Amino acid sequence: MTQSAAGSGPKKITTKVIASMKEEGKKIACLTAYDFLTARFLDQAGVDLILVGDSLGMVFQGHETTIPVTLEEMMYHAKTVVRGVHRAMIVVDMPFMSYQANPEEGFRNAGRVMKETGAGAVKFEGGERVAELVFKTTQAGIPVMGHLGLTPQSIHQFGGYTPRGTTAGEAKRILNDALTLQQSGVFAIVLEKIPAALAAKVSKRLDIPTIGIGAGNGCDGQILVVADMLGLYEEFQPRFVRRYASLADVVRESVGKYVRDVKDRKFPSKEESY
Ligand code: KIV
Repeated sequence: MTQSAAGSGPKKITTKVIASMKEEGKKIACLTAYDFLTARFLDQAGVDLILVGDSLGMVFQGHETTIPVTLEEMMYHAKTVVRGVHRAMIVVDMPFMSYQANPEEGFRNAGRVMKETGAGAVKFEGGERVAELVFKTTQAGIPVMGHLGLTPQSIHQFGGYTPRGTTAGEAKRILNDALTLQQSGVFAIVLEKIPAALAAKVSKRLDIPTIGIGAGNGCDGQILVVADMLGLYEEFQPRFVRRYASLADVVRESVGKYVRDVKDRKFPSKEESY
């Protein structure tokens, strides 16, 4: 593994490093980010993999689902994240309808993301149905991450955010999809909102790492949406989210103090003036 191009600086995380972490039994810490500043904090704090998730449609843009997010928007956010990161691997979510129509279109769009953003990999949701696309994309040298279980781009088909893989049939399909994705070339798979026992079973059967979100402790790594774990997104809080801070309160209190200082003519002071 080489250092950064300048010969100094942190060791860059690549798909090879991610694979070796599973082999060595080291857990992989992942979070989402959508902007330069947050990405820089995450990188400085030691996050291994940053996902520019299409969850930005909900927590950044205020939509009810991830469906409206466009490829251009994903690329805009990815470019800002790339500028803040030295060490972490950066994966970009391919948004709804940027790859579903046919493998050729998905492949070309994935190529655009890699060429224009500087990210290290893309993510597609789905199993068997994206296998051909995954194969084509990885054959072209583009690392791909899979995503199984609750796949938010299919939320209207699921009809809600209830856990997936809770019936024997669905659990079997998820395991088979994971094996198919591995065979097609993905370097890791996100397992979202499935029973912990199923996620542990999938993780044991695969050579590549699994990254869980609401999938228990048996996965090879974990991911959360950064706005959820920092307590910024208050719309809903699924049981699998652990809140490490209540930043929404900090922001409201700080802004409230600023508003009072302005209205009371306490800001700016002499020292803060020229
Ligand atoms: O869009 C996203 O943030 C994701 C994670 C929840 C895995 O896909």
